[in-house]
Amino acid sequence: MDTPFYVTTPIYYVNDAPHIGHAYPTVAADVLARWRRLWGDDVQFLTGTDEHGLKVQRAAEEQGVTPLEWADRTSERYRETWRLLEITNTDFIRTTEPRHHAAVQQFMQRVYDNGYIERGTYEGLYCVSCEAYYTEGELVDGMCAIHKTPVERVTEENYFFKLSAFEDRLLEHYAAHPEAVQPESRRNEVLGFIKQGLRDFSMSRTSITWGVPLPWDPDHVAYVWFDALFNYCTAVGYGDDRARFDRYWPVDYHIVGKDIVRFHAVYWPAMLMAAGEAPPKCVFAHGFLLVGGEKMSKTGLNQIAPADLVETFGSDGLRYHFLADQRFGPDGDFSFEAMVARYNADLANNFGNLASRVLNMAVTYCDGVAPHARAEGPLVPAIERAFEENARHLERLDYAGAYGAVWELIGAANSFIEDSEPWKLHKAGDAGAVAGVLGDCLEALRIVALLASPIIPDACRELWRRLGLDGAPEDQSLPAAAAWGLGPSGTNLEKGDPLFPRIDTD
Ligand code: MSP
Repeated sequence: MDTPFYVTTPIYYVNDAPHIGHAYPTVAADVLARWRRLWGDDVQFLTGTDEHGLKVQRAAEEQGVTPLEWADRTSERYRETWRLLEITNTDFIRTTEPRHHAAVQQFMQRVYDNGYIERGTYEGLYCVSCEAYYTEGELVDGMCAIHKTPVERVTEENYFFKLSAFEDRLLEHYAAHPEAVQPESRRNEVLGFIKQGLRDFSMSRTSITWGVPLPWDPDHVAYVWFDALFNYCTAVGYGDDRARFDRYWPVDYHIVGKDIVRFHAVYWPAMLMAAGEAPPKCVFAHGFLLVGGEKMSKTGLNQIAPADLVETFGSDGLRYHFLADQRFGPDGDFSFEAMVARYNADLANNFGNLASRVLNMAVTYCDGVAPHARAEGPLVPAIERAFEENARHLERLDYAGAYGAVWELIGAANSFIEDSEPWKLHKAGDAGAVAGVLGDCLEALRIVALLASPIIPDACRELWRRLGLDGAPEDQSLPAAAAWGLGPSGTNLEKGDPLFPRIDTD
């Protein structure tokens, strides 16, 4: 448990119920967290809810409850959803928590004392859904380009964050750390935005009370994004435990959607620099999951709750589909039909069949006791390749590539069974050859369970148990545990129901 590794998801607005667009980055962060844990890292994995701002205040008013009552309710729904999806976050932050208010206030005071916050008047066009100001030029037909809803003209006397002072430092930072915004298309977008010239932005509001009061002028509350972004620092001890903060900060990965890259890759590093803290090591921006070509929206009918999919596909099925089935970075289209097809092909057939064939044969032909894998089994090169490719792709958050490599190994093991025909060897009474083939296959299954455990943890845990192995795949440590020949050998095997029952589309 040596190397610290810190990964975050965005914190979700509580005006909206959890849908699959929120599950997408959360599952991505979870797979990364699980994978780093296998490598022995000391992982901090943060998610949570964003509970201040006009948007939440209005949602609560519409429901006739206080903003906090509203936030309590929705925040709990996020927690439930993450439990259902087997998300292994180590912390869940709510921006209404006292620890967050205290940390944000210290941070704001620091930035103010450093001279990067000033008083001024602002008039602009505000999109409540984005909680952001736009210029006329950024609007499409006079509407917010993202939400396609009218913007509001707002005039406020408030405090400004001097973003313009950070243009050069941000450009220098990104020149020295090209990996700090990924993928490259997003990095170019961010650089283009900075080069156009940065405008100071108002970081406080007097029009609402639902927020964190500025310590030097409590008639103002912090602009919701100013407070929200800071959640990442609060959770690792800013202003409370400097040693802990220094251990995990700067964060390794902020996983965010492409709609909030500007906040994370322009505003946020500048805010940190203004307080004398280091910017994030990497902001990784993914595309949207689209349903019928459209982004899911609160008002749209196309909003899908993760729980509905879990009912049909299990949490493993959802996790696999979101990440292994499409590239993480570009937009991906979500369709029920495509999800069923890949579930049946990859999980029920390739993975599930390999497990049940091998276990059934070993129970029948070898009296349920696992034979040894052979020293130089023919599957060894396929395993080494899968292991290396899996790691190489996960380093770059290329989940589809990483798990594609594991499924190639599964394919190789299935072909190996077809080619070596253990049922014929058994009929011919060649017990040694049967044990050799099945020993190799059982060992391949163990390594598949290990490598696939970050993405389909439930099935891998169950497979591990049926192989008669102690503990669970997530207790193992890489790279040692991926070495060929560590077992199962001599363990008691168990057949069982299909790990992934086929889904009949009729
Ligand atoms: N509260 C802010 C984030 C603050 S982080 C300091 C916010 N919340 S959100 O709930 O509106 O969105 C959270 C994340 O969900 C964003 O990264 C957004 O891109 C992502 N998604 C919401 N719908 C999505 C899809 N349909 N597909 C993929 N992700 C999308 O923004």
